[in-house]
Amino acid sequence: MSSSYVEDPAPGHGALPPRAAFASDAWALSLNGTWRFLLSPSIAAAPDGTERDDFDDHGWDTIPVPSHWQLQGHGRPAYTNVRYPFPVHPPEVPSDNATGDYRLTFDLPADRPDAPTVLRFDGIDSCARIWLNGHELGVTKGSRLPSEFDVGALLRPRDNLLAVRVHQWSAGSYLEDQDMWWLSGIFRSVTLLARPAGGVTDYTVHAGYDHRTGRGTLSVSASGPDVRISVPELGVTGLPAGESAQLDGIEPWSAESPRLYAGEVYTATERVPVRVGFRTVTIEDGQLKVNGRRILFRGVNRHEHHPEFGRALPREFAVADIELMKRHNINAVRTSHYPPDPAFLELCDLYGLWVIDECDLETHGFGELDWAGNPSDDPQWADAYLDRMRRMVERDKNHPSIVLWSLGNEAHTGRNLAGMAEWTHERDPSRPVHYEGDFDCAYVDVFSRMYADHDEVDRIGRRVDDENPRRRELPFLLCEFAHAMGNGPGGLLEYRELFERHPRCQGGFIWEWLDHGIAQRDEHGREFFAYGGDFGEPLHDGNFVIDGVVHPDRTPSPALVEFAKVFEPVRITAGSGGIRIANHYDTVPLDGLGFSWVLEEEGVARAEGLLDVGPVPPGGSVAVPLPPLPPTTAESLLTVRAVLSADTRWAAAGHVVAWGQVPVTPAPEPAAPARGARVTATEDRLRLGPGTFDPGTGRLTSLGGHPVHGPRLDLWRAPTDNDRGSDRPEEQQWRAAGLHRLQHRVEGVDVREDELVVRTRVAPPALGFGMLAAYHWTADAGRLRLRVDVEPAGAWPCTLPRLGLRMALPGAFGTAEWFGAGPGEAYPDSRQSARAGRFVRTVEELQTPYVYPQENGNRTEVRNLLLTSGGGAGIRVDGEPVFDFTARRWTTEELDAATHTTDLTAGELVHLNLDFAQHGLGSASCGPGVLPPYRLQARKASLTLTFTPLS
Ligand code: GAL
Repeated sequence: MSSSYVEDPAPGHGALPPRAAFASDAWALSLNGTWRFLLSPSIAAAPDGTERDDFDDHGWDTIPVPSHWQLQGHGRPAYTNVRYPFPVHPPEVPSDNATGDYRLTFDLPADRPDAPTVLRFDGIDSCARIWLNGHELGVTKGSRLPSEFDVGALLRPRDNLLAVRVHQWSAGSYLEDQDMWWLSGIFRSVTLLARPAGGVTDYTVHAGYDHRTGRGTLSVSASGPDVRISVPELGVTGLPAGESAQLDGIEPWSAESPRLYAGEVYTATERVPVRVGFRTVTIEDGQLKVNGRRILFRGVNRHEHHPEFGRALPREFAVADIELMKRHNINAVRTSHYPPDPAFLELCDLYGLWVIDECDLETHGFGELDWAGNPSDDPQWADAYLDRMRRMVERDKNHPSIVLWSLGNEAHTGRNLAGMAEWTHERDPSRPVHYEGDFDCAYVDVFSRMYADHDEVDRIGRRVDDENPRRRELPFLLCEFAHAMGNGPGGLLEYRELFERHPRCQGGFIWEWLDHGIAQRDEHGREFFAYGGDFGEPLHDGNFVIDGVVHPDRTPSPALVEFAKVFEPVRITAGSGGIRIANHYDTVPLDGLGFSWVLEEEGVARAEGLLDVGPVPPGGSVAVPLPPLPPTTAESLLTVRAVLSADTRWAAAGHVVAWGQVPVTPAPEPAAPARGARVTATEDRLRLGPGTFDPGTGRLTSLGGHPVHGPRLDLWRAPTDNDRGSDRPEEQQWRAAGLHRLQHRVEGVDVREDELVVRTRVAPPALGFGMLAAYHWTADAGRLRLRVDVEPAGAWPCTLPRLGLRMALPGAFGTAEWFGAGPGEAYPDSRQSARAGRFVRTVEELQTPYVYPQENGNRTEVRNLLLTSGGGAGIRVDGEPVFDFTARRWTTEELDAATHTTDLTAGELVHLNLDFAQHGLGSASCGPGVLPPYRLQARKASLTLTFTPLS
């Protein structure tokens, strides 16, 4: 049996022309379920005759369809970002080409109508040859695209045999080099569908909206006899294909108000329920507009992934994704980097998300060869490129949520891409075309970049230094920005400011939605998430696949919470005489929101109420006076929240959409500092107030009887992926400067009457620079006060990871309560989502379980912190005025050494960092580093803290 089709650059063959995805009242039978399965290491090793009825598959395994065989115990997943995991010699693929044979025997139910029937595959990775009852139907490629085959004449009432031979690698693999796991098999649904004679073969609903008149224009175009559309709510009945209706008083569709009108497209023999959303996408005045309004993409790149199922994503997770997005103020999705399961787009229509639908095309690995041989400019691949685009556009054309078509990702440039764009413009003039790789904007309609830094976005916004006259006039978007790998990104706020300053900068899509971790268990049965290399792949890109704003189990990471705050559609700030409320929605007023306020004194609620805000149009703002407030003496803030007034599809009434804080009473002068107690010395210890010190090192050894490893200067943090990053490898410089192995030399322990002064020089081995740290301790009967003065000595070669103190406490002090910013972690360039308040978390809850362990959990602007046991014993730390802290059950060194979450195990102590400052996060793992204001330089500084033992 020839297998030359596998390495043929042409698209598959035998399939029916592509058409819209729809479900009608025609008979359909899902063939999802348990199939017989055999994996062979190569095509040569695969058995012959699997398509024949008499083939004996009793020795075979079974497999669920849809699924990926690597996640069902056959073969192993493999991850590469850019590099092809096989020699680049297109269109050839390895002889060791894992081949999965699938067989399904099925009967037809008695009620099946006698009608032409098609067999549809929604996705097979990467190439399949298909037989029904011994007859070959054809070959399909284009993993994330559907194929349909005409099977009516071949079906029999009982014992139909469907045989599918799937190859891991094919010529198509050269076009599918997306940054993700290589996973194979029939991973989307398989369905048998009756196609009634005289039915709706295919249709396109056109539903434009004129914002000047409020009028909608509805028509349907269709092939086939006498196709009509009805939308009862609009009084449209039986509008024939090709004719259009003008409809007054239409409520347009937008991501913010996804109004859909239920209707039907039908013929005499078939009825298709449709949901019509009226909207018109235009490019005017260099801006992308929908219904006449500039829109701002607060978007996210979404791959389909699940830690157990990979890209065979059950529908409930698509729903979960969209609900989480909507609850976090995300209004747009780029379907990176392939058309999603069709169900996802229906949900986008329904819930309201702007969508860039992206074709299944990436040839990034040719970049390693300076793009020599890149299929994008090679005529022998022209049909494959066009075929992919056609299959996407035809499948998805009826979704109002899709506002841009994208040709694909990182495939450089070339004729075949230009050809896709040309065909698309012709086929669907109602939507602009996007492709980031067309830097010259020769064949696209919007200018798109990925990971441009803030300066570049600003220049683009100002239209300076651009010699290309066409590009200069186009709307601009960041199809990827703010790489969310590990802890980060920092710098979101500054991007938002640029999007608001420059009308042509229409936002961006954060990279990316989800960490693509794969659930595994260690030898003790503990779950962890695997990444590249964990399956023994000889070539891999490690944890670069772990870069989402939600963890693999879909719990939000701090990045998502920060995104939600930075891009909140309502901005609540202190304004002259009260509160300013600005509506940042693109299209809707604030009618659906209520406003509540709470006054908190040192984080404890004192009064609350509702705020009457009145109407605010999109883009508008109002000033609202402060509500009448009771007097307070301690530091007090008014928190105002914008909440949903009624249940929506994606969140219940009361869900907080936005919030802001207005300071009401400033912090009073601190209580008189602890002073007056005298230092007493015995042979082996020094005592001062509630503290005991080691006379040799000057370190605090106990506080109110609790044993402690007293505070001393510390600069290290377990580097984040962004510290390690590609742009400014801070980690390298920090390690070269020895910041992870500082030595502390005691220069003097100076006992004064009521003060203990410990002078140290803290410096890396082998190098000449260092930090002078002087600890000044004073006390009264119950409290110890510490002022640490630090001063750099010599020339410091690099920034600092952090500047602070580390100490250790008994493990029993496992609950933290603080008045400061929270509840989540915060870093200088990612702290918008932390509000002032009083919060309680266990030490365990303070950790963010990044799949690749790294610095995390910092709480900032802390006024006071209590670390206690259940019984109330513990310590209290007060800042003058504030400090940052992290508390963990492992050391920074252990965190630094860990590569998976299961490497971290709780020790006996609580390790507490009390910091002056942290270096920012940036997004240098793929993009710009930390912006200058957030870079932590070695500098003279002082931190003052008061420690109070609690019992
Ligand atoms: C981009 C690419 C994405 C992803 C990202 C880094 O270049 O389009 O697919 O690889 O970089 O995570």
